[in-house]
Amino acid sequence: MKILVVGGGGREHAIARAMSRNSETALFSVMAKKNPGIAAIARKVCIASETDVSRVVAFAHETGSEYAFIGPEAPLEAGIVDHLEAAGVACVGPTRAAARLETDKAFCRELMAEHRIAGCPAYRIFHDAAEAITFIREHEGDLAVKPIGLTGGKGVRIMGDQIDRAGAIAYVKQIKGEVVLEERLRGEEFTLQAFVDGKTLVPMPLVQDHKRAFEGDAGPNTGGMGSYSMPDHSLPFVTTGDYEQAIAIMKSVVVVMARTGTPYKGILYGQFMNTADGPKVIEFNARFGDPEAMNVLTLLSSDLSDIVTRITEGSLSRGQVSFKREATVCKYLVPAGYPDSPRKGDLLTVKDPAPATLYYANVEERDGQLYTLSSRTLAFVGTGKTLDEAEQAAETAASAVTGKVRHRRDIGTQALLTQRIAHMKELR
Ligand code: AMP
Ligand code: GLY
Repeated sequence: MKILVVGGGGREHAIARAMSRNSETALFSVMAKKNPGIAAIARKVCIASETDVSRVVAFAHETGSEYAFIGPEAPLEAGIVDHLEAAGVACVGPTRAAARLETDKAFCRELMAEHRIAGCPAYRIFHDAAEAITFIREHEGDLAVKPIGLTGGKGVRIMGDQIDRAGAIAYVKQIKGEVVLEERLRGEEFTLQAFVDGKTLVPMPLVQDHKRAFEGDAGPNTGGMGSYSMPDHSLPFVTTGDYEQAIAIMKSVVVVMARTGTPYKGILYGQFMNTADGPKVIEFNARFGDPEAMNVLTLLSSDLSDIVTRITEGSLSRGQVSFKREATVCKYLVPAGYPDSPRKGDLLTVKDPAPATLYYANVEERDGQLYTLSSRTLAFVGTGKTLDEAEQAAETAASAVTGKVRHRRDIGTQALLTQRIAHMKELR
């Protein structure tokens, strides 16, 4: 079976590695920059922009790829799935129209409201800065300010946290009024990712990501500094009832997408805020999370190539997908100055990560040496029977790297988990 993986980050390295566990699978890769981890397992690599749809289609043809797995959101928004499918390549990833669940925040909220899908926060959509500003001035509580389109996970501003009312008004002016304003939710966030074949949804273990740059959740938002999951595939601040509600919300989305003529196929990523009133939807993504893909794919014990076939054929079922009952902790190394003024070109030396797994992200390999680029560099995933065991494996591997990089030492620690549980108790 020949599969083309589109994208070159840590997430796509995890996808490629999981796929390569099947020795019958031949992997091909299109990525903007050469990821040394993917390059080492792919049969052939094409260095090209992931949104250059005609290049990707041509490479799929040249390699005889029958399937494609789309990692990032930008090519989905560029309609890569529509083009690949028209050329006879079956895709794990939604069409451009179905990907609007992620790429158009107004579409997502309107779909939820119109079809009465649970978990939708109070929201208002604006296309005019003056109207949005009047609303902000007159609104009593705190708001989440969200540009309507894609922002690489860095576009949302939260009143009462990152900005005040005046800051919200200035931000709305800056983004020219194309904005969704939502009630500010309070609680603990979690990620629920699922395989979807258009009708059937098969959930993966819950994960918690850490968006803030520094320990103790301080500093600016990033693409995600690291994440963890628990051996029971849930999280200690999520009850069975919360979990079932989150699954029901995601299933409703799949049903509504099919009914409205844009069936959803690929990976559906639900980002939830677990509040005093149960889980609310922060957003949906039309792809795996990065880093969250690394947690779940390290645990996947089924054959990902088989899952790819089933997603594209519409024959997915829960019985064919299983994950090891272990904890995972993922820690990303980032260059000094990340995310505001990252340094690049610094030499890194990496020791054998065992027992942790190393996933390559944004690094340059030159003459057998690794150098930082301006984004997240390398990720280490530890696994274990307990969270502590997984955390220690990831921490040991991450701190053994020398160079001008840093990581969050607190991710996956018992201390942080205890805080999360206490926060949830306080809210309830
Ligand atoms: P997003 O880009 O939608 O993933 O949002 C980035 C971050 O903003 C999320 O991880 C949340 O921490 C926060 N956020 C988004 N929407 C809300 C909301 N309605 N209430 C509180 N926080 C939010
Ligand atoms: N880790 C969050 C995301 O991939 O969007």
